[in-house]
Amino acid sequence: MTPAPEPRPILDLFKLYGRHAVVTGGAQGIGYEIAKGLAQAGARVTLADLNAEVGEPAAQALGGTFEVLDVTDAAAVAALAAKLPDVEILVNNAGIVRNLPAEDTEDDDWTAVMKVNLDGVFWCCREFGRSMLARGRGSIVSTASMSGLISNHPQPQVAYNVSKAGVIHLTRSLAGEWGARGVRVNCVSPGYTATPMTRRGLDTPEWRATWLGETPMGRLAEPFEIAPAVLYLASDASSFVTGHSLVVDGGYVCW
Ligand SMILES: NC(=O)c1ccc[n+]([C@@H]2O[C@H](COP(=O)([O-])OP(=O)(O)OC[C@H]3O[C@@H](n4cnc5c(N)ncnc54)[C@H](O)[C@@H]3O)[C@@H](O)[C@H]2O)c1
Repeated sequence: MTPAPEPRPILDLFKLYGRHAVVTGGAQGIGYEIAKGLAQAGARVTLADLNAEVGEPAAQALGGTFEVLDVTDAAAVAALAAKLPDVEILVNNAGIVRNLPAEDTEDDDWTAVMKVNLDGVFWCCREFGRSMLARGRGSIVSTASMSGLISNHPQPQVAYNVSKAGVIHLTRSLAGEWGARGVRVNCVSPGYTATPMTRRGLDTPEWRATWLGETPMGRLAEPFEIAPAVLYLASDASSFVTGHSLVVDGGYVCW
């Protein structure tokens, strides 16, 4: 059982001063905006990403640090977790998509997506989770997707959709295991968001029309609009929330 917290002024609950946050895939897009939001809330941030060329200056801009990391490399994840034993907030955000019809999805396509989007999330939860459990304190937030709840169209992306459904259920599984030990595990499930990942879709008239037409709010999210949801889940503002998938999709899953 975890002790109930003392009441505090409500805006103080969102402050992260003195906490170290790691954001995977934080060099650009949604991950960068999440890291920026956490830094603005007072956290010390480490961006962990494959892409050092973009990630180094991005980390500098936030007053944080950069670590090269391939989340699919379990040994590298373990080494980074050992190097940063004070991490209290882990954001699993690295992700890739392959838009292929199911019947043309080769073994390598399936495996590549699963390795980044699902294996990588588990390796990071397991390795950073150990030190959080030892300290009895930590918050993990993964970037899942509305694709873990619905199957997108018109573009095919079977491996992506399944990987994100896996992240949502991994979130629930770990929340159940670790809830009484002070480590909360949640995820955000964004809808279409304007980042390099969605550039191809926006340039494809049929995709763009469907994406906008099927979103009740009639637009894509800006990447910074995902960050407040992550801040809520990462911070003490959500002290009694665990195992949750917070959908941030302009209403897409309503239809
Ligand atoms: N853009 C969207 O519409 C959307 C919607 C829902 C969910 N998401 C999810 O949000 C997350 C971020 O997406 P984005 O749109 O910002 O994408 P992006 O392509 O702009 O950024 C992804 C980042 O992850 C990094 N990355 C990729 N593989 C990695 C690996 N093996 N190890 C470490 N880092 C790696 C990339 O270098 C890049 O910096 C992803 O998990 C994605 O699935 C995106």
